[in-house]
Amino acid sequence: MEKITSLAKRRGFIYQGSEIYGGFAGFWDYGPLGVELKNNIKREWWKSMVYDRQDVVGLDAAIVMNPKVWEASGHVEAFTDPLVECKECHHRFRADKLQGGKCPDCGGSLTEPKKFNLLTEVYVGTTEEGKKKAYLRGEITQGVFVNFRNVVDSTRVKIPFGIAQIGKAFRNEITAGNLTFRSREFEQMELEYFVNPEEKEADKTFEFWKEARMNWYISLGMSKENLRFRDHEEKEKAHYAKKATDIEYKAPFGWSEFEGIHHRGDYDLSNHKLAYKDEEAGKEYTPWVIETSGGIDRSALFFLLDAYQEEKDRVILKLDPRLAPFKVAVFPLLANKEDLVREAKRVYDLLRGKFYVAWDARGNIGKRYFAQDEIGTPWCVTVDFQTLDDETVTVRDRDTAKQERVPIDKLSDYFQNKLGV
Ligand code: GAP
Repeated sequence: MEKITSLAKRRGFIYQGSEIYGGFAGFWDYGPLGVELKNNIKREWWKSMVYDRQDVVGLDAAIVMNPKVWEASGHVEAFTDPLVECKECHHRFRADKLQGGKCPDCGGSLTEPKKFNLLTEVYVGTTEEGKKKAYLRGEITQGVFVNFRNVVDSTRVKIPFGIAQIGKAFRNEITAGNLTFRSREFEQMELEYFVNPEEKEADKTFEFWKEARMNWYISLGMSKENLRFRDHEEKEKAHYAKKATDIEYKAPFGWSEFEGIHHRGDYDLSNHKLAYKDEEAGKEYTPWVIETSGGIDRSALFFLLDAYQEEKDRVILKLDPRLAPFKVAVFPLLANKEDLVREAKRVYDLLRGKFYVAWDARGNIGKRYFAQDEIGTPWCVTVDFQTLDDETVTVRDRDTAKQERVPIDKLSDYFQNKLGV
């Protein structure tokens, strides 16, 4: 964890939020490489959830909604964690995450647990008297439910169908920690899949999405042995869930949830007084919902942890090329040879429109390879003296360190084939 934290900062993946003012607990900023990693995760998710399917449409709802939404959804009442406070040092903790019943900071005794609501309040309005209390959304989900009617009326969807959404959510977590793992501001990628209110169909859909989501992480390179399902016990289920299974990752701080598959029944649509009219069958009913809810920050962290490898004296991030921030890096063999630099710039410009490409002319070639391995760049292209004769370049593979010569005019196709695009 220390190595990833240091790499994340040093190479521009993740910075502490508001760092120059001492930080702000639970808030993180993504640097130039972090934003690429997150965008790549989001793009792959959207592709598999929306573009590759005929029964799912997308949505982007507002973060701040009428506070009545959160009353109806049960969050004002029930979106709580049990909080205890140390009677000596007054530090606060989540009771369900503590072991031993004593304050972990000073060993003092703790108060009885009380319910602490995780919704983050905001005040909206232009005058002090007219300001209205609202909430930053605690889950992106409710924006989908309140637009259920809109989507049905404005598109051709028919049950069963899904609505996919990606966006920020906020929780006033009692204790944030483990880098971005538990943050107060984070991003979710969610699918709400609406089905007939029928046990067998709902169970089948639940199992389908459980497998589909697990396979998605594996298809993007996460090691199977670091992944598992964990069913929720009755007492830990969220207030909306009839059934819940987590996808967990074997993190350095223990098995940890980063996606939940939830059977929400008709809990939300009923509470918002929404129903579905099946015109063909001539009946109206409240659909049930199977939800897949993934965290982008946790996924990004676990993709980084899973990809991190040390081989002799080099560090390699073996990220799937689709997730890697840069797809290719281009170098002139020697930075002080004008014709090599000119030709390398030409190759760089040629590839730049199609892929996100890094340029590096510092230090020697070995150092440049090491620097690209450490940030997960799958291929490095070197323009050398032979290039000036025969218009070929060296392409070096991150994982095998093997090199091959590729003609410049075939380079784009070569990388497109490798990336499967
Ligand atoms: N709509 C259902 C829902 O929000 P959840 O299990 O509370 O379910 C889903 O959250 C995912 O959101 C989690 O698996 C996790 O990846 C991410 N998540 C939740 N709280 C988080 C936090 N404080 N920091 C980072 N990610 C978080």
